[in-house]
This record gives sequence, C-alpha cells and structure tokens, in this order.
Amino acid sequence: MASFQTLPGFREFYPEDLARRNHIFRLWRQTAGTFGFAEYDAPVLEPLELYKAKSGDEIEAQLFSFTDKGGRDVALRPEMTPTVCRLVGAKANALKRPIKWFSIGEFYRYERAQKGRLRAFYQFNADIFGEPGVEAEIELISMLVQCLAVFGLTKDDFCVRLSDRNLWFFFLEALGLDEPRVRAMLTAVDKLEKAGDDAFAPYTAEFGVLDPSLKARIKGFLEIKSLASLDQLLTALNNDPEINKVAGPADAVRRFDERVVEMRRLVDGLTAMGLGDFVAIDLSVVRGLAYYTGFVFEAFDKKGELRALAGGGRYNDLVKKLGGPDLPAVGFAIGDVTTGLLLEQRGLMPTMISAPDVYCVIGGEAERLAAFGDIHALRAAGFRVDYPMKEVAFGKQFKAAAESGAKLALIYGGDELAKGVVKIRDLTDRSEREVPRAQVAAQVRDFFSAS
Ligand code: HAM
Repeated sequence: MASFQTLPGFREFYPEDLARRNHIFRLWRQTAGTFGFAEYDAPVLEPLELYKAKSGDEIEAQLFSFTDKGGRDVALRPEMTPTVCRLVGAKANALKRPIKWFSIGEFYRYERAQKGRLRAFYQFNADIFGEPGVEAEIELISMLVQCLAVFGLTKDDFCVRLSDRNLWFFFLEALGLDEPRVRAMLTAVDKLEKAGDDAFAPYTAEFGVLDPSLKARIKGFLEIKSLASLDQLLTALNNDPEINKVAGPADAVRRFDERVVEMRRLVDGLTAMGLGDFVAIDLSVVRGLAYYTGFVFEAFDKKGELRALAGGGRYNDLVKKLGGPDLPAVGFAIGDVTTGLLLEQRGLMPTMISAPDVYCVIGGEAERLAAFGDIHALRAAGFRVDYPMKEVAFGKQFKAAAESGAKLALIYGGDELAKGVVKIRDLTDRSEREVPRAQVAAQVRDFFSAS
C-alpha cells in the first residue's frame, strides 16, 4: 500500500481535523472583518516567472514547479505576496485606498520536513496597499496580535518581534558596506540564530575575509532589544571613529535617527492600542524574503519551541517590479501549522464535533415515513437533524442520540403516532413530554430559542 500514502509534508483532513482547521479559519476571517479587510482569492498555479528573483533564493529553491502540457513553466504558489501585488497592480487606479485585503489559502514549498514545517500548509494573508506611513504597520501588527489573541492566547504565549531592514542598511552602509554586501550580510543575519557563524560562509565566499571588528559590531547590533538601546546606539554612532571614516557619516547618522523616530511612532501607536506587552524590538529579525524594504516583523511562541507563527513587513517596490504602479505596501501571513500546534499545546483547541440539534428515534418502517415530513421541515428551518438510516432497536437509537451530542430527541413510536403525538425528550435532563404532531416544528423552535 506504500505507494498510496500521502506525499511527505501533505496532510489529509479527517472531519475532526477539518473542524479544527475551520475553527482557526473562522476566527481569522472574523478578525479580518472587524479590522475592515475585504477577502479575495487567486489561482494556486502561477507562471514560474512570478517568483523568480522576486521571492528570493530560498523560496525559489523550494518551488513545486513543472512544465505544463502547453509548454509553460509553472509553479504551485509558495506564498501570496507576488500574486496579490499583480491583482492590486492591475486595478490600482480603480480601487479605493487604502486597499485592505485578506485571503486564506493553501501554499506549497518543498521544505525539509520538520516540526511546524510542511510542504502544503495554509496561510492567512493580510496586506495594505497605498499607505506609506507607519499607520499601515500599526493596523497590521495589531491585527496579527488579534489573530492569535482571538483564540485565548495571551502575552505569555506569544510575542511579535519588530525590526527594520532600513536600520540595518543605514548601519552597515555607515560601516562602509556597499549594497550587495549589505544584502549578503542580511542573509547571513537571517540564518545566524540557526546556523551560528556558518551563516557568514556565503558572505566570505563572495566578498572575502570578514573583519572581526565588523562581525563584533553586527553581533552587538543583534543584541538590540529596545528603543532605549537604539538611542544608546545612536549616541555611540555619533561618536564612532569608524563611522566617521566613511563618506557621508553625518547623513548616515541622520537617516538612522529618522528611522528610530519612525520606529518610536510605530511602538507608541501599538502601545496606545494596549498591545505594548505583545511587541518587542528585536533586530535579529531581518526576514528571508527578497522584497522587504522597511519594517519587518515575526510572531513567535514565547517558549521558543516552535518555528515562526507569522511573518511580514513593508515591501514598497514589489507592485512596481511586477508591472504595476508605484504603490507602497505592507503585509503579513500567519500559518495554520504552527498556530494549530500552539493552540494544542496550550489546551486552547476545542474538541469539535459537529453535533446535530435534534436526533429522531424511529420505531419502524411505518413510523419512518411519518418522521420524514418533520425531519425535512426542521432541516429546511435550519435545524441540524439526524436519524438512523436503518431500522435499529430503540435502545441502540437512544444510545446513538446521546452519543451524537444532540440536545433533543424526537421519538416516533407506533403508540405515539396512533395518538397523533410525538414524544420530545430533553437529552440534557432526560425530561419527556408529548406534543401533537402538527406542533413539532414550533416546539423545537421554542426549545432552541429559549436555550
Ligand atoms: P513567510 O515568513 O515565508 O512569509 O511565511 C509566513 C508564515 O507562513 C510562517 O511564519 C509560517 O507560519 C507559515 N509557513 C511558511 N512556510 C511554511 C511551511 N513550509 N510549513 C508550514 N507553515 C509555513 C510569507 O510567506 C510572506 N509572503 C508574508 C507576507 C505577506 N509578507 C507580506 N505580505
């Protein structure tokens, strides 16, 4: 049977698994609604070109790609961001700004299987287009927090780590690195936590030996975990002889200073929303994707046991790169795999059974036809109704009714029907009463509107 198993990293969803997934999606969708985001969707199969050089080397290496029967090079989408940029870019002038959009869909990456990382997974993506200021970051980071808090997770369970690629650029440029070196260095920083000093290998392979003082400075920069330490760094930069060697040091420090002011506005906004405890500055976050241009952020579980829960940031150039107008953008995606694991760990994933409201206990074939009229009428009125498909002993039916999780049982026995009544049993307190057949639907409705 081995050949009929699922492919590695792909999941099957039995009803109880799907109920859990739907629970997550329902609360994400509800959260997006409360923030005023509109839902969209797009194809799962895209031209390969859409991801080449746009998503970055790491994602490009993980693509599920092939040539279709028409000779086109195509890929299963590994992420939504290039696609949503195309959608927005194509109609940018007709869309009311700011454009606040979200979507829930499946994505595919040929990753090495590990806890929290699969090859097919779902993401909730939320993006804002047309807003250049930190107001867009405030809106998205507060929504990200709510996308986790809505399940009952607290500041003790997760944290959003905030960083800024511009700060890194200004810092490394001030230290004399040109743009290709800065980019290579940020790739190294992205890997540093996992790979240690090996992360610098591609950089040194391309640009030669890494000056130990530069490495020490980078590691120092990584230690920054607060606005106060950024202020200290700014003072240090102002007096730094290394910086003063580089052309335009005053400019570098000024740009750096301006970014710190912006970061403070962002943090102040989130604090005013009451979310200060959920957000921490952490410059070790630089994000692996190629298109980010400013603030970046990732959400992690507080115990540090899981891979990232979510990630995002500003990407002001991507809409234009994909043929659209110059349109600033910020967004994030949160995944179902790590979110689900965290909810399970914290006991916050409800046990979901799709219980009927009403279970019909039916005496025999003659009573079955009488029951059918009520069953269909109740379903048409919106009640969830179940009944045994075959003739089964009464005792077994009552057991099935109790196990189903239904609140009410309707009993269609020969004696009852002869009297023109149906017995209604409240399955919670086991009380019973007889009601005339014509009143069954009304009685059921009354029961549920009262409970
Ligand atoms: P990302 O950091 O690649 O960002 O993915 C975001 C989230 O998707 C991760 O934090 C994780 O929860 C989930 N995820 C990613 N890969 C896997 C995997 N192999 N298995 C399970 N879960 C996974 C992006 O995708 C950006 N496009 C986000 C974005 C939207 N930026 C701007 N707008």
